[in-house]
Amino acid sequence: MIAHSLLRDAFKTQFGYFASAYYFSPGRVNLIGEHIDYNGGYVMPAAISLGISAAVAWRDDDIICVYANDFKEKSTFSISDNLADINKTAIHWSDYIKATLQVLKDKNTKLRGADIYISSDLPLGAGLSSSAALECLIAFIFDEVESEKNRTALALHAQLAERKYVGVNCGIMDQFAVANGKDKHAIILNCATLDYEYTPADFKSYQLVIINSNKSRTLASSKYNERRKECDAAFEQLKKIDSAADLCHIHEISLATLEDDVLYQRAKHAILENKRVKHAVQVLKNGNIEAFGQLLTESHISLDRDYEVSCHELNMIVHYSTHFEACIGARMTGAGFGGCCIALVAKEKVPQFIAYVGKKYTEKTGLKADFYCAEIVDGVRSILE
Ligand code: GLA
Repeated sequence: MIAHSLLRDAFKTQFGYFASAYYFSPGRVNLIGEHIDYNGGYVMPAAISLGISAAVAWRDDDIICVYANDFKEKSTFSISDNLADINKTAIHWSDYIKATLQVLKDKNTKLRGADIYISSDLPLGAGLSSSAALECLIAFIFDEVESEKNRTALALHAQLAERKYVGVNCGIMDQFAVANGKDKHAIILNCATLDYEYTPADFKSYQLVIINSNKSRTLASSKYNERRKECDAAFEQLKKIDSAADLCHIHEISLATLEDDVLYQRAKHAILENKRVKHAVQVLKNGNIEAFGQLLTESHISLDRDYEVSCHELNMIVHYSTHFEACIGARMTGAGFGGCCIALVAKEKVPQFIAYVGKKYTEKTGLKADFYCAEIVDGVRSILE
């Protein structure tokens, strides 16, 4: 989170007067349950202390003026513009804002003009849900009372913005985690029903480390949509012989009826990943963190081999992380094709872990990894001065 005094002064410098309200919207990590939110599975995300901070002042007209510190750029438009007019092949940061406001307009939310300053300590486009953080932030700012009352509806509006107007056919996990995050807890979300519960994210003597590969995720959205189509195609075939309501609940034995090897691999990942999440919930609740760590690594192997959404850089991070003795598990987190990994590392060995994995990663890839020991925090919220 950006320090309040910095945010306050930066707004004043940009707009010449002081903001009247402040907000924070977190990024998220997914502990386990990857690429199954859109297949009716269970996922276990958590909101993190890295996120997007905003200072806001309302205007008397219908102009929205947003300054994004991370891009050193201002975007100005009117609420009455056609905000749905987004070039889906060249998404600009302000498009996430327009898309979300368009969703609010579609549901007849009364919108007002505003000056907004946003600044982030969340690495952008790195698989920690910076887009969901921005969508939820905007939906929350412009519809605060309703958003506080119904955070699941907030997540659904933010997801709709991304699917309908930005053009990424995403699941609900990211927006749900940003909207419903809880301090020191992971969310266990049933994506088929949106029922959820919290469980303490207590990793005992281990620290959750986030590792940014800094590998750009250029293919991410096209490959993401491709994976979704493959899952749909697999389910189309499987449902002829299996009565399960979605891909994650198909019986493992039914997989044998899939002749196409790619569809077989995708379906196998979805079914087994869902089982891993259920197992992970149990071991975490029982305080068996070593078993939890092992499931993280198994999840990564499945994402790499069967679901094919990892890449050399993420594999190198997981390989050297798990080679490090005090690390009990690691995996890519989020959509993949670059972005971030998570690892569970004995607290007292974190500096050595960072030095070792950082060095090996650079030797193997020529890239420099960034490491974060983020906290698990509450979802999107207003910040009192
Ligand atoms: C992206 C999507 C999520 C989810 C993950 C993969 O982050 O936005 O809905 O599908 O990928 O688990």
